[in-house]
Amino acid sequence: MNLGIEGRVAVVTGASAGIGFAVANEFVENGASVVIAARDKKRLDDAERALGARPGAKVVSVAADVSSPDAASVITTRALEAFGALDILVNNAGRAHAGGLMTSSEDDWDEMTGVKLTSMRRMCKTAIPHMQKAGWGRIVNMSSIGGIYPNPKLFVSHVLSAAINNLTKSLALEVAKDGILVNAIGIGAVATDNWANNMVPAVRRARPAFASLSDDEVIARISAELTPVGRAGEPKEIAAIAAFLSSARNGFVTGDTIEASGGADRFM
Ligand SMILES: NC(=O)c1ccc[n+]([C@@H]2O[C@H](COP(=O)([O-])OP(=O)(O)OC[C@H]3O[C@@H](n4cnc5c(N)ncnc54)[C@H](OP(=O)(O)O)[C@@H]3O)[C@@H](O)[C@H]2O)c1
Repeated sequence: MNLGIEGRVAVVTGASAGIGFAVANEFVENGASVVIAARDKKRLDDAERALGARPGAKVVSVAADVSSPDAASVITTRALEAFGALDILVNNAGRAHAGGLMTSSEDDWDEMTGVKLTSMRRMCKTAIPHMQKAGWGRIVNMSSIGGIYPNPKLFVSHVLSAAINNLTKSLALEVAKDGILVNAIGIGAVATDNWANNMVPAVRRARPAFASLSDDEVIARISAELTPVGRAGEPKEIAAIAAFLSSARNGFVTGDTIEASGGADRFM
């Protein structure tokens, strides 16, 4: 499908790995200019090189922690300086936090809120005036299926996902008149570093029988158990949805959270 975004300028946060990298790759393949952001400079440079290897690719990177107050303006300024516009924003940076209300600390709550929710609000607020000026824009916010079907073992992540879904709907209604469409993706289990770093240790604690299994085996077992399609999703499967929602081919979907979970209603 030709997405009709050739020459558009896209910002993808958390694009040095996993789902964000796959989204940036979709944009590059469709001729968009892409700004990728993440914290770890080396991984970001590697991602920029990999994405930029395609003939004609236009990719720049900016090392930033999206939870810092100036990140939104730093990232937006990079897009404007490099490419003169900001048409598409994918708020993807983040991670999961395993734990219930009683086992999550004040720091967990503050850190996760900063990375997932406050950053999203700031990024949208900073990007939207540029989209309004162009009379066209697309925003995709990465949420989780837990925003609709909360799993108490992922309390903080799933409360924030519900807030992301609400932010998405509210903002979509506010900016629909400006040609800007805003959607979220309710992601289920997708095998990335996020799983290995943040979920697998909690699964091993809860399931001593899994202690001797490799990370990949733990992810495969849990995904098969919880996901009706019998496996974890792949980053490119989420990226395909984000690419459509961000494209000129999407003209009528806004304010929605599209569930992409292989039929599952939880992922741990
Ligand atoms: N994978 C799943 O099963 C799943 C399920 C539901 C929702 N999600 C959501 O989907 C998004 C992508 O997840 P993923 O699985 O692809 O994760 P991932 O493979 O761990 O990649 C996360 C990306 O975000 C960046 N990042 C993390 N914290 C950041 C921060 N504070 N500022 C800037 N960049 C930051 C990381 O780079 P640095 O660490 O170098 O900054 C990396 O590029 C996340 O928001 C996650 O919550 C994923």
